[in-house]
Amino acid sequence: MKQRIFITGISKGIGRAIAEDLNRKGFEVYGTSRSPEKIQNKIEGVHYFELDLSSENSIMKCVESLPEIDLLVNNAGQSQMGPAENISNEKVREIFEVNFFGTILLTKMFAQRMRERGAGKIINIGTLSGSFAMPFQSTYGSSKIALTTWSLCLRKEMKPFGVHITMIEPFYINSGIQLEYICPEDSAYKASADHVYRIRNEKLDSAVSPAELVHTINEIINTKNPKGIYVSERKGRVFRFIKRLLPDSTVEKLTLKSLGLKY
Ligand SMILES: NC(=O)c1ccc[n+]([C@@H]2O[C@H](COP(=O)([O-])OP(=O)(O)OC[C@H]3O[C@@H](n4cnc5c(N)ncnc54)[C@H](OP(=O)(O)O)[C@@H]3O)[C@@H](O)[C@H]2O)c1
Repeated sequence: MKQRIFITGISKGIGRAIAEDLNRKGFEVYGTSRSPEKIQNKIEGVHYFELDLSSENSIMKCVESLPEIDLLVNNAGQSQMGPAENISNEKVREIFEVNFFGTILLTKMFAQRMRERGAGKIINIGTLSGSFAMPFQSTYGSSKIALTTWSLCLRKEMKPFGVHITMIEPFYINSGIQLEYICPEDSAYKASADHVYRIRNEKLDSAVSPAELVHTINEIINTKNPKGIYVSERKGRVFRFIKRLLPDSTVEKLTLKSLGLKY
């Protein structure tokens, strides 16, 4: 029987690239969007479902209508930038609702089914930038770091049941990612935040294609015992390696320097 794969957020970007690749390879692919009816160029053969991760009702309804799933890919997420001081707690909750609370609720529902079956894989997409604590990404970074810690705990709990939990942490992928930027005109951080926002967009524009992450997904599918964390791009793997070798104070200086900040 064909392996069944469920991927959140396949309307565009990385999620779409994963869905296209696995569909082409003969997997039975199920995927989501908040508005599947609005997707113009649906992938032939893929089953589309409606899912809004900020709504518990939507999550329950979606999971209940799905068959048994062999691999869950938690790809959907909301990206956000701006000075921490200027981001309301309401906005922080909104981002955590999607990137953390909604994602873990969905994961728990699949985890239970997989545990009862004694098999399954779950891949969560985080971000490498979280562990570098990039300035003006406090909300997005912390929501993804929370997901990483949660996933690594779950991984250890589920291992005896034959269920494998894995994180993929991309750094910069040219996916056309939708990035919300909040910075009031009178913010004390305006000049540096605008600068970092511009640099980040330039890095994204010149980054590798989603194919690198798709390659990592295939590696995990074809591995019996996947690792806890994969960094999808070569450049990201080099940064992660360097971070392990250097003192925190040096990593902090290099992080600021990479964004053109001199303080
Ligand atoms: N691109 C990068 O450089 C990069 C780096 C690190 C991590 N990531 C992570 O990789 C994942 C994919 O990123 P991407 O670059 O492909 O971003 P994207 O192009 O902005 O796509 C995001 C996807 O998430 C879905 N989504 C957004 N809000 C949602 C919600 N409330 N409920 C359910 N689905 C929602 C969107 O679907 P609809 O709008 O159709 O609902 C869309 O398919 C994200 O988790 C992102 O944080 C990306």
